[in-house]
Amino acid sequence: MSSPYLSAQKIVKRFPGVIANNQVDFTVNRGEIHALLGENGAGKSTLMQILYGMYQMDSGKISIEGKQRHIHTSKDAIKAGIGMVHQEFMLVRRFSVVENIVLGMDSDGITGNLTRARERIRDLSKTHGLHVDPDQVIEHLPVGAQQRVEILKLLFREAQLLILDEPTAVLTPQETAALFQVLRHLAEQGHAIVIVTHKLHEIMSVSDRVTIMRDGCVVSALETRNSSENQLAKLMVGRDVSLRVTRSVRPRGKPILKISDLHVTDDRNQKAVTGIDITLHAGEVLGLAGVDGNGQSELAQALLNLRAIQSGQVKMADVDLTHRSPAEHHRNRLAYVPADRRHVGALMGLSIARNVILGSHGKYASQFGLLDEKKINRFAKELVRRFDVRPSDVDYMAGKLSGGNLQKILLGREIMRDPLAYVIEQPTRGLDVGAVEAVWREILSERDAGKAILLISAELEEILNLSDRIAVIYEGRIMGIVEAGDASIEKIGLMMAGVLPDSEAPEIRR
Ligand SMILES: Nc1ncnc2c1ncn2[C@@H]1O[C@H](COP(=O)(O)OP(=O)(O)OP(=O)(O)O)[C@@H](O)[C@H]1O
Ligand SMILES: [Mg+2]
Repeated sequence: MSSPYLSAQKIVKRFPGVIANNQVDFTVNRGEIHALLGENGAGKSTLMQILYGMYQMDSGKISIEGKQRHIHTSKDAIKAGIGMVHQEFMLVRRFSVVENIVLGMDSDGITGNLTRARERIRDLSKTHGLHVDPDQVIEHLPVGAQQRVEILKLLFREAQLLILDEPTAVLTPQETAALFQVLRHLAEQGHAIVIVTHKLHEIMSVSDRVTIMRDGCVVSALETRNSSENQLAKLMVGRDVSLRVTRSVRPRGKPILKISDLHVTDDRNQKAVTGIDITLHAGEVLGLAGVDGNGQSELAQALLNLRAIQSGQVKMADVDLTHRSPAEHHRNRLAYVPADRRHVGALMGLSIARNVILGSHGKYASQFGLLDEKKINRFAKELVRRFDVRPSDVDYMAGKLSGGNLQKILLGREIMRDPLAYVIEQPTRGLDVGAVEAVWREILSERDAGKAILLISAELEEILNLSDRIAVIYEGRIMGIVEAGDASIEKIGLMMAGVLPDSEAPEIRR
């Protein structure tokens, strides 16, 4: 059976003003898949980065197979058999698979010889079911394959403990299932695996044990089979969380946003959106499902004219917004909640109060053209209260907020402007279940208030829970639009991978 591989004891790590890890005990065994769960800001990444030598702990002890180890750098970690796949892959896009795998290793022995490296990669891929061609260039590989390269890279370095930080955020359900099979197999071969994830159903399906953190402390470590999604949610948030939202049946209203034959290119001037037609109606959530990088971000940006439209048309009610300014979109009540909260959505160096008035400064100018601080504060306080932002101090710097709280502010800011239609991109990416619940509620209540919502998400559960209709985007085209009642994870998942189940081709509606 399993034996302890790594044991971390009484780990303490402080950042200015917070204890990110407070006397944390954490053990992982060989042969197990261990899930690490916790609210946003609970201290999961900090702990993993300490194990991987990217942060220095203030105090505590790390032992590998019973022997204390001092890990000051990632090199030390790798020597100790610890490897980590970060959420943002760290591959060089123009290099081949084999080049990426040997990159950064001392150029002696096997790494000095690409032919031998290639052979070893082929062996490793075969043994572990990680299919990749060593000579393919990274930028030509889909994300699922890039992830396999990251894992191969760790195995090539003989990692015994593999840490994966939110590995499924960018995968289709089928790719996720394949990844889990690989992880299972690695565990059976005696590796130890840690996955950090917010997705409770994944924890239930793949892990053997789960450690739950709250406010920098470990609150529980238990065997998955003795637990349930509800219990895990409760342990991490400290209260009951409903894991489902109920969506009332309501008739589709009149057309609000009309997208006709839209063509858009990406940053490299390649076609990103090729001929998209969508009509969004009042009182509906139209879910746009798709794996990242299939044109959905370019589509969203083009709808708001933050990216040039090559051809086609975007109309709000009867107003043509195709090449109009963002202010014009604003005036015609089309709102946007971007995926990149930290770089596009908010100004991290400014306070909550300043962030909530971004884009509507005019409304807060006094007669002398100066900003009316009292009015701003009143508005910010109302938003913070209504959307339960924590901390509730409106002078708090946006950059210090957790992902969930920052998202509440961005969504709240748009909702309080009372738009007719929304383009909302990846609204719960990286958020914990409590925050997901809050955001889902807000989106549905806007739908119930008759707003038209284009919900762009790679998260199938989110799409299935919130949408009245589901469109699937693949390589810049709509594969089909299905009514929520006719949709299943399998069907949508296949369409996301570009496969149309030909026996039951979905109806295409506009
Ligand atoms: N480099 C840093 N400097 C200052 N504070 C930090 C730093 N990194 C993390 N923190 C703080 O430490 C705490 C724990 O953060 P951490 O990133 O470990 O949380 P997490 O559990 O990974 O959250 P999430 O689920 O949002 O990824 C938070 O309060 C965070 O703001
Ligand atoms: Mg984290």
